[in-house]
Amino acid sequence: PRPRDLAGLHVVVSAGGTREPLDPVRFLGNRSSGKQGVALARAAAERGARVTLVAAHVEVPTDGLAVTAVETASEMALAVESAAEVADVVIMAAAVADYRPETVSEAKIKKEQDVDGLTLRLVKNPDILRGLAALGRPGLTVVGFAAETAPDREALLELGRAKARRKGADLLVVNAVGWTAGFGADDTAVVMLDADGGIVAEADGSKRVVADAILDRVVALRPR
Ligand code: PMT
Repeated sequence: PRPRDLAGLHVVVSAGGTREPLDPVRFLGNRSSGKQGVALARAAAERGARVTLVAAHVEVPTDGLAVTAVETASEMALAVESAAEVADVVIMAAAVADYRPETVSEAKIKKEQDVDGLTLRLVKNPDILRGLAALGRPGLTVVGFAAETAPDREALLELGRAKARRKGADLLVVNAVGWTAGFGADDTAVVMLDADGGIVAEADGSKRVVADAILDRVVALRPR
């Protein structure tokens, strides 16, 4: 299935890496480039969907896409949850920080403040994907990702299966990440799991090829 098999659907995609501020000049971030999320947004648009891209820090062009720019996980939660209220599909491809610094200093933290080092206390961010899946809103297809470091495929699948069951998304896209894989790469390989952790599809190649394979599964999940 391809041409315009998403026509009439509103698809929300999150992409890129959140940045959790520490002081006016520093943040906790991650290496997400936004390539996978933007590829999903572009593929969905080409297949006829109305697409809202909720973009944290991305390093690729988003021209031609309807973008809601966010920085932190909290801002992303607000943007995705409100967009999801009127959406048919939400795809959480963004690298969302699980934690943020408990306090944000209004002034740049000076190294003189702490002679033998700086201790950061981190607090948990909202789990957007889990919240969306828990809504159980009929008609809303929720797609999540699992970015795991694992020594081999079996270990990767074990982690992915556990996350699939924990999150309860309709589809969980498992991809291995590491120093040279996942974040920033042009190519990728994914295993797609259902909410019980069963393998429903696999795909590899460019992030655009994988985006189309993910959307094929979304189409298959949607009521006719
Ligand atoms: O952006 P690229 O450079 O192309 O890299 C692509 C990618 C590796 C970032 C992407 O394919 C990917 O795996 N995105 C998810 C990264 C991530 O945060 O994975 P996770 O296993 O930590 O989170 C699991 C899921 O919960 C994800 O769908 C994530 O968006 C979501 N999440 C995570 C934390 C949080 N507080 N709220 C969330 O909703």
